[in-house]
Amino acid sequence: MSEIHVLGVLGAGQMGSGIAQVAAAAGYTVKLADANLELASKAKAKIVGGLQKLVEKGKLAAPDAAATGDRIVPVGSIADLADADLVIEAATENLELKLELFRKLDAAVKPEALLASNTSSISITRIAAVTKRPSQVVGMHFFNPVPLMKLVEVIRAIQTADATYETVKTLAAKLNKTAVTAKDSPGFLVNRILMPLLLEAIFTLEQGLGSAEDIDTAAKLGLNHPMGPLELSDFIGLDTVLAIAEVFHREFGDSKYRAPVMLRNYVAAGWLGRKAGRGFYTYEKK
Ligand SMILES: NC(=O)c1ccc[n+]([C@@H]2O[C@H](COP(=O)([O-])OP(=O)(O)OC[C@H]3O[C@@H](n4cnc5c(N)ncnc54)[C@H](O)[C@@H]3O)[C@@H](O)[C@H]2O)c1
Repeated sequence: MSEIHVLGVLGAGQMGSGIAQVAAAAGYTVKLADANLELASKAKAKIVGGLQKLVEKGKLAAPDAAATGDRIVPVGSIADLADADLVIEAATENLELKLELFRKLDAAVKPEALLASNTSSISITRIAAVTKRPSQVVGMHFFNPVPLMKLVEVIRAIQTADATYETVKTLAAKLNKTAVTAKDSPGFLVNRILMPLLLEAIFTLEQGLGSAEDIDTAAKLGLNHPMGPLELSDFIGLDTVLAIAEVFHREFGDSKYRAPVMLRNYVAAGWLGRKAGRGFYTYEKK
């Protein structure tokens, strides 16, 4: 197991920013990188703005907010992550991009550094294989919004060494997260369990077994779920739900992951859920 002092975060979107915030709040120095320095700096400014709001609401002490902000250092390139003990990659979900970023990270960071990916669907085993340090590559799958969601799935690629796994599990605890361990397989644990629920809820709607409201109320009051499955699908984005279903259907070859025609039609119509103003429900556009 190795000690983590400096943490690199590559990809400063909603997930990377959340990871940077949580790590800085836990006392780590965070080097935050995106495609360029401007994007990384903007992301830091947004994090600092969010911390300031927490101070105004009385949820965070001003000195703590300032110290957290000070520990986040925006940087301009992957080369600037050279002194990181661990880099968590949270860039756009695209296979070719991620493989390229891991090749570059592998060349940039010190030999003993660990590399983690926050990918939702890409094989960690495949990512590890493009580096010269496959035993030091692991998945750390955080949930959105990172500061609020307690879970981290730690994904062991078939190459991941025990020491790498133990280090990131310890890190997850220091970030005040609860870690679960998953083998490297599409959807890991959470999305693997979630997808059949979402797809079945869409099938029940498609088959006219209940209204959208009744299907969601059934799950909320009958299963004690905080959100109904149709409401949650709209929140995730119906294009994303369809994309995950297609990956599962292809990778597992199991018909239980087939996408309902209704889902395909909604996506084709541009009814992508909350972000589009319309999905299973209609929303005021922001
Ligand atoms: N959004 C979620 O709910 C969620 C949950 C868990 C995991 N994830 C995963 O986290 C990752 C990021 O998702 P997100 O929702 O934060 O997306 P996002 O679009 O908010 O952020 C992606 C960031 O990657 C940056 N990026 C693109 N190309 C880059 C490059 N060449 N070098 C460096 N940075 C680059 C973009 O500029 C952007 O800031 C994805 O792998 C996604 O699957 C997302």
